[in-house]
Amino acid sequence: MNRGEKGMGMFVINGGNKLHGSLFVKGAKNSMLPIMAASVLNSSDETINLYNIPDIYDMHVMKKILQSLGAEVHFENNALQINVRNLKSYNISDDLMREMRSSIFLMGPLLSKLGKVRVTYPGGCSIGPRPIDLHFKGLEAMGAVIREENGAITASAPRLIGTEIHLDYPSVGATENLMMTAVLAKGKTVIHNAAKEPEIVDLQNFLNAMGARIRGAGTETLRIDGVKDLGDCSYKIIPDRIVAGTYLMAAAITGSNLLVKGIIPAHLDAVVAKMREAGVVIQAADDSLEVIQSNLKAVETLRTLPYPGFPTDLQPQMMALLTLAKGDSTIIESVFEARFKHVDELNRLCANITVDGRTAFVRGVNKLFGAEVDTTDLRAGAALILAGLAAEGTTVIKNIQHIDRGYERIENDLKKVGADIERVQMLK
Ligand code: UD1
Repeated sequence: MNRGEKGMGMFVINGGNKLHGSLFVKGAKNSMLPIMAASVLNSSDETINLYNIPDIYDMHVMKKILQSLGAEVHFENNALQINVRNLKSYNISDDLMREMRSSIFLMGPLLSKLGKVRVTYPGGCSIGPRPIDLHFKGLEAMGAVIREENGAITASAPRLIGTEIHLDYPSVGATENLMMTAVLAKGKTVIHNAAKEPEIVDLQNFLNAMGARIRGAGTETLRIDGVKDLGDCSYKIIPDRIVAGTYLMAAAITGSNLLVKGIIPAHLDAVVAKMREAGVVIQAADDSLEVIQSNLKAVETLRTLPYPGFPTDLQPQMMALLTLAKGDSTIIESVFEARFKHVDELNRLCANITVDGRTAFVRGVNKLFGAEVDTTDLRAGAALILAGLAAEGTTVIKNIQHIDRGYERIENDLKKVGADIERVQMLK
């Protein structure tokens, strides 16, 4: 199967193996997607080269969207070439919008480049309502006129004007969309209460390499001086901190010694701190983290927060880990409203978790037992893999197309370090 196709499949895991050796982490999905979208801002005829690109489903969707707009996009050996000299369309089809929430990232860049954009409401993971009001408010503040009719959203702006924007919440996507819009707007834009995620810094560095003038990424205030045009560049995407965290937790839940390489350890400070609190011994080096050993114990409270807090994208995996910890842990999901769909599935493996609103209570058990489970979203799927690696017996995880959205053939990495995991492809 080509990785750009969404195949129905399942993972069959025989739990209990220890992991050993090392894993290398590729580029971050959440950096790559806005950066691919930002590539349409190139006003030269030259090609943008992006490196360290993971071969994941969402990359292929963004590639398809760019191609549908008239861009030439080529992917080979974890590198992308994007040329937008023939970009014409400002209309993203409903089918493609539904495939992936990140399609909304194209709203700002297309509006900037073509003065008009037409989209529909984006799809994505089923982790609760994900409004886009903050994106709209910011675009309107810069002079866009946005109309919604029969599910279609049209924005137009003959000229975007820099302004002061205060985000009600430090939304990652809204911050990125507005940065991409402001780079070519007339005058200065200041974004207050901006998201501080490392992926925002990566987007700033990429846009500045194209000729933009942005300062402040990584802090809560972004200052953007509009420029007349942007050119091509070559750029290497930062490593994926969520994949790195998933692998560290895979080592911890199986009581293994594993080295996770090619990463920026500082991006995982909050995660490493919580894992240490949970009894995991972790050693840090310049570009790696190594799980040495684990004696899992409960953590008092784990609360997901915007960066530099504990990332919501590692909450399900950390919950899987805590199911086998000694004692009771409390997890509060403060970023998304309904991100506990993995709880019922973990309980099928004999975990003991109850939920009250946005709080989950995890009562540690001695053992998990293999069962058949279903995955409804990307990180929930990763959590089930971790639980399956630790469980006694065989775990079957269905609907793994969700996992392929953000992990490049995760089974190959895990097999390489000793896991017993197989992908079983279903005939359509
Ligand atoms: C990004 C990440 C996702 C991660 C999330 C939070 C990408 C491609 N995805 O998603 O993996 O889980 O950050 O770290 O980078 N909100 C509003 N109005 C808006 C926008 C957001 O109310 O206009 C709310 C959302 O409903 C949610 C919260 O803000 O409750 C955080 O969302 P946001 O930071 O925007 O996440 P995404 O950019 O969608």
